[in-house]
Amino acid sequence: MNSNRALVQTRKLFWRTSRMITATDEQLHKSTLLPIFRLVYNQHGISLNTQQLKTLVKLAENLDSGEIGCAENPSPLWKGKKDVCLWTEIFECEDFCLNIFRMPAGFSLPVHDHPEMTGVNTILHGRIKHSSYTWQERITKENKLGLVAFEKSGESTPTNNKCIATQTEAGNVHTLTALEDTTIFQVLCPNYDFDQRSCSFFALNQMKENLFQIKKINSADDYLCGGVPYSGISGKQIFDLVASESLVQTSTHHKSDR
Ligand SMILES: [Fe+2]
Repeated sequence: MNSNRALVQTRKLFWRTSRMITATDEQLHKSTLLPIFRLVYNQHGISLNTQQLKTLVKLAENLDSGEIGCAENPSPLWKGKKDVCLWTEIFECEDFCLNIFRMPAGFSLPVHDHPEMTGVNTILHGRIKHSSYTWQERITKENKLGLVAFEKSGESTPTNNKCIATQTEAGNVHTLTALEDTTIFQVLCPNYDFDQRSCSFFALNQMKENLFQIKKINSADDYLCGGVPYSGISGKQIFDLVASESLVQTSTHHKSDR
């Protein structure tokens, strides 16, 4: 079992034990999550273009963190033993996923990629350093060593560079390090799968100033994950609302075609 599969299974376990809030119709329609769901739902598994990614960033900047159970600083969640990344699933389907992950100060996500995927990481608490790399020579069955070029690095907080967009090409390989106890809201579109879009972890070896040899590693042994039950507004309810809106639109189009 690779680390990613273990991670997903851990998340599924906590999904089942979640304490999410069942929302009223009014709460659903006012939800700041709703336009985010609408945007990624209507992609039907296609990655976001540049304009759509900008729209997603704006929507994520305006997210009410209380709505997804993230009003409080995450520090008490580790109960003093700060060695794991804590994952919380808001909603997941084949076409997209919304998650929360919390990293204690000093914790780094291993270098990984998001093949053919777009998304946004939004910093809700704390401070992170992020570094990203762009494929120059991809790893293939025949060639186990690839090349990536350093793309950029920077710091993000809830008030400065709050959202980090993931694009399909530039900076698709990346790593995040928590400089303080940190909460991140993540949207990915499309979602990972275990076939065309599996998550890979990598080790980098610097060749020149901005050029790195890259190789896959089977698992990142120091990447320990745990789970926290979701305590926000129900993602399934919002998904169902967006799906019903889409059905109404489709039937309206069909009627007007007649
Ligand atoms: Fe990532």
